[in-house]
Amino acid sequence: MKMHRFEEIFLIIGVAILVLSMVVTGYQTFALEMGPPSHTETIDPQKVDETAPFDNPGVFQTGDNEYEVVMTLQVFSFTPNQIEVPVGSEVTFTMTSKDVTHGFQIAGTNVNAMVMPGHIQKITETFDEPGEYLVLCNEYCGAGHQMMATTITVK
Ligand code: CUA
Repeated sequence: MKMHRFEEIFLIIGVAILVLSMVVTGYQTFALEMGPPSHTETIDPQKVDETAPFDNPGVFQTGDNEYEVVMTLQVFSFTPNQIEVPVGSEVTFTMTSKDVTHGFQIAGTNVNAMVMPGHIQKITETFDEPGEYLVLCNEYCGAGHQMMATTITVK
């Protein structure tokens, strides 16, 4: 096969970039263990409602100023969707999805997590400022994705 010089150079650069990005991604995932932390805890996505703790979602006090929110995400809502905690609380969100991949982003904070079916996602945040925090799903999950939101009240 006869190729033009520029075609050859173009192909070599293209393949080199592809291989390099695969090596970098592979190194981050396997050597630096930068894969999703939720991969360590799994759940049968068909049986979320029967599996503890997700058989009883809600807000639970776990210590002095410490709370755990056990939450399921599904098209197109968060359960529980009324969350209220006192100012200064350290809140751990334990989440899983009952259907497709959803997002859990708390506006105005650094909390931004992907919640995937089959995996348990945990993320902790301390709420030092009172107010209404907007929670958004930021993974496109279907026709009602833009309506998937809730609030966390801190007072
Ligand atoms: Cu759930 Cu988008």
